[in-house]
Amino acid sequence: MIENFKRVSLGHFPTPIEHLKSISDYLGGPQIFIKRDDCTGLATGGNKTRKLEFILADAIDKNADLVVTVGAIQSNHARQTAAACARLGLKCLIVLEQRLKDAPEIYMSSGNVFLNKVFGAEMILCPPDRDVKDYADEIVEEKKHSGGNPYFIPVGGSNHLGELGYIECMREIIENQNNNPFTHILLATGSGGTHAGLVAGKTIFQSEIKVIGISIKDNKSIQEERVYQLATNSLKYVDSSAPNREDVFVDDSYVGPGYAEPTDGMRKALSLMATREGILLDPVYSGKAFDGLIGLVQSNFFKTTDKVLFLHTGGSAAIPAFEWAFE
Ligand SMILES: Cc1ncc(COP(=O)(O)O)c(C=O)c1O
Repeated sequence: MIENFKRVSLGHFPTPIEHLKSISDYLGGPQIFIKRDDCTGLATGGNKTRKLEFILADAIDKNADLVVTVGAIQSNHARQTAAACARLGLKCLIVLEQRLKDAPEIYMSSGNVFLNKVFGAEMILCPPDRDVKDYADEIVEEKKHSGGNPYFIPVGGSNHLGELGYIECMREIIENQNNNPFTHILLATGSGGTHAGLVAGKTIFQSEIKVIGISIKDNKSIQEERVYQLATNSLKYVDSSAPNREDVFVDDSYVGPGYAEPTDGMRKALSLMATREGILLDPVYSGKAFDGLIGLVQSNFFKTTDKVLFLHTGGSAAIPAFEWAFE
């Protein structure tokens, strides 16, 4: 049971659910709602706050003197971890991986990179010929040899502890849908923990809501398998039965040329959300996910009687590093 796990308070929950009336009218399909996990309250918000409440409680429980994590240069997970560590008085070391080819200078220094510095985190760039996880493991081992007690958080905070945060989010969604249930939840799926937590929550609370992950990096079969394995693992920790494989659904049509590579669809989705609803999406995750939602509405995937919830997972702090992508 989730209550058996330690948790620190980092965010503002439950996050609001709002009706995207203007966009729903414009697209002419189902009614679309948004769950504002971009407003979780920690360092401009985002999905990692929920995960870190459980993960960092474990780090504190284990008397960690340093938190080490990994991410892409403009990782939102890294920024949220840096801020959470600052709040909890923990040192933070971030190992950053260059995944974007020919990245402009601003991508390397602005947005989340700049904010990591503001939060007092140390950053190390993984050499291009090294695997980032192996490189971070070596750093963790060195710290242990020199008498430290480092705590490692996997990419995206996607492990059984992080997923507890999204089991909780599913509970919030079910409790806040009144007598008119959502038919679908749509979200960006990357390291997979957010998606897996929702699937695990759907299993625990026996909900009919269909969860649709829009991949921002990997192809459908890789991403579905990753999410299924994560959900299965996290359900073991809360003594629940395994998820149905059919409950894990990924659409990989909106990735474009690759991770963090801008697409026209992403630009249109960002612009639509900004100009019609006054809400900022991000270019890497929520922008591509909302492009997916628009695409699915336009291809009549949904019935007009459906009630679709877009999970806004945050990321707008990275926008200044992506000005070039909108020129
Ligand atoms: C803004 C944003 N949305 C979505 C995701 C994807 O979440 P997950 O890694 O749990 O799949 C991330 C991951 O870093 C993110 O930063």
